[in-house]
Amino acid sequence: MMDGATPDLTPKVFKLFQEYINENCGIYIDDYRADALRVSLWIRMRDLGYSDYIAYLSFLRDGKKGDDEFKELLNLITINETCFFRNPNQFAALAKYVIPEIIKRKKKTDRTIRIWSAGCSTGEEPYSIAMVLLDRLPDAKSWRIDILGTDVSRQALSRAQRGCYGERTMREMDEAYIKRYFKQNDLGEYCLSDKIKKMVSFGYHNLIKEPYPFLIMGGWDIIFCRNVTIYFRLPSVKRVVDNFYQSLNEGGYLFIGHAESLYQISDSFVPIELDSAFVYKKMPGKDVKEIKDVEEVKEVKDIEEVKEKKTGIKKKKPKTVEPEEEEKLFNEARLLFKEEDFEQAKVMLLNVLKLNPENHHARLLLGQVYANENLYDAAANEASKVLKADPLSVPAHFLLGVVCQKQERTDEAVKEFKRVVYLDSDFALGHLNLANIYRSQHLDKKALREYNNAVRSLVAKPHGDWLDFAGGFLSEVLVEVCRRNIGQIKKS
Ligand SMILES: C[S@@+](CC[C@H](N)C(=O)[O-])C[C@H]1O[C@@H](n2cnc3c(N)ncnc32)[C@H](O)[C@@H]1O
Repeated sequence: MMDGATPDLTPKVFKLFQEYINENCGIYIDDYRADALRVSLWIRMRDLGYSDYIAYLSFLRDGKKGDDEFKELLNLITINETCFFRNPNQFAALAKYVIPEIIKRKKKTDRTIRIWSAGCSTGEEPYSIAMVLLDRLPDAKSWRIDILGTDVSRQALSRAQRGCYGERTMREMDEAYIKRYFKQNDLGEYCLSDKIKKMVSFGYHNLIKEPYPFLIMGGWDIIFCRNVTIYFRLPSVKRVVDNFYQSLNEGGYLFIGHAESLYQISDSFVPIELDSAFVYKKMPGKDVKEIKDVEEVKEVKDIEEVKEKKTGIKKKKPKTVEPEEEEKLFNEARLLFKEEDFEQAKVMLLNVLKLNPENHHARLLLGQVYANENLYDAAANEASKVLKADPLSVPAHFLLGVVCQKQERTDEAVKEFKRVVYLDSDFALGHLNLANIYRSQHLDKKALREYNNAVRSLVAKPHGDWLDFAGGFLSEVLVEVCRRNIGQIKKS
């Protein structure tokens, strides 16, 4: 949603980067994220003194130095959104069925439990697993516990190792866990106790680089790989899932994101429904008796069908929904949007709006979906409907501004963004987009003022309402973009 600050990335050059990134880490940057990629490339190129995309790409391809640089770039292009106990139903299933079953099976053998969180981001997932495991294993000292978190973002991994978090990431967690395992530091962050930190180790591992070192990366009882391969293309997902199958112990479990499925990806695993969660089990004989000893579970023949029933997400035909489902459906849609499943998010949002046409949040999110699909008239239409009911809606003005900007109706975009910051001076993206437009018009004084305003509001409200429109960018990255622009304008 930013414009004007970086040199153009032509579709041809974008494709070269798209292919390079896809080949080297599996992430497929869709065309609508070209703008976001442009900013990330630009940040790295400026640091290294490159002004030409092709020269930078050659550097990336150039042996060890290029590999190291690619890791720096990955810090900027990966989407690290996560939280403790993300999708609590899966953790409930882990606690109630999966861990007890593994304990039962292994307590008379090697008393070892090995769990891998692949694509662990900033560590909330493996630490949540550690907390659940400790709850279920009172005699933990007599077991060998091995929990590994891996990722390709070194920045995320170093935050994971530090183990201190802000409140936002703890929103799904039980108060009891916070009391038991966290202490607040002077900065107001919640820091994990050594007891939990010691249970988890972290390392760099790229899921797309084969072969996996199975001696180290094998013999897992459980693998979590949630919300990672949603950014991959089908052949890469198939390879990764096949590698997971190889590296799991027999009877081992695979947890994938709640909106993901192995349908048409792998039929080696047996899908199992555990209350409101789905897990996949490696059972060469496809026998579900073992886990049935612990609690009654159902093998699912058609996981898609059951998922549709549970979530209301139909592949094509939207399902009729009951009024009380509005909030649930909207939350689901937000999640799908975050995970960039726009098609399904759209179906959900249309369902929400059928229930309640006055739901402005749903309407604006739908507008964003349309804008991402370059359906600008449809996006503007949704924003206008909201403004008709609430002429002071800041996000609606912002969405209109973005649409005008995309359609190169710059004067109108400026008007809308000015309204945004007039109504809410902390709506950081309003300032940032104004700054970018001014800069592209060589109005340096105005651009400087707005970049400074953007920095101020990003620091004051790093999790403000603007975040919903930031396309996955964190405030820190945007602050860096602003500061660099400020530096350059001052130099020029
Ligand atoms: C959205 S986060 C998911 C975090 C966590 N699993 C969860 O569900 O909350 C996706 C993570 O996958 C990581 N990732 C992307 N491509 C990867 C790859 N090829 N190998 C390992 N990790 C990868 C990203 O760096 C990012 O931290």
